[in-house]
Amino acid sequence: IRVLVLHGPNLNMLGRRAPDVYGTATLADLEALCRDEGARLGLEVDCRQSNHEGELVTWIQEAAPSFSAIILNAGAYTHTSVAVHDALEAVGLPTIEVHLSNIFRRESFRHHSYVTPQAFGVICGLGFDGYRAALLALANRLKGNNG
Ligand code: DQA
Repeated sequence: IRVLVLHGPNLNMLGRRAPDVYGTATLADLEALCRDEGARLGLEVDCRQSNHEGELVTWIQEAAPSFSAIILNAGAYTHTSVAVHDALEAVGLPTIEVHLSNIFRRESFRHHSYVTPQAFGVICGLGFDGYRAALLALANRLKGNNG
């Protein structure tokens, strides 16, 4: 079972960017955690990051049939991208939206998400643990457990 973990713009700056909000660990650390946690749960995890909306759209479009699910932190495109919304709708894979920070206690422009209508679950504010939770939920769902 293969899961695609996608990160959008500025998430390559993790560790250097607003450490008070996002922590001091890096994207490489987060991706390693996802691969390790995935392996523990019997999932093969492929991690990608892009600062380009179109590249994210293409990766989402091409995710099926080789991937069974997507974990998406679209960064700021969460709040702006109809194209990401439409790509998720087109590909139809089970998707969990994740944000490191609690977007609802931040600026009001972060309160709306174009990803949420296409996601079966949303996790925010739990930092890296949000990805552990997302992988656990996907493992249960894809293996038909009632988590
Ligand atoms: C984020 C929240 C977004 O509002 C922001 O633009 C990001 C990161 C998060 O993980 O908390 O880039 O998606």
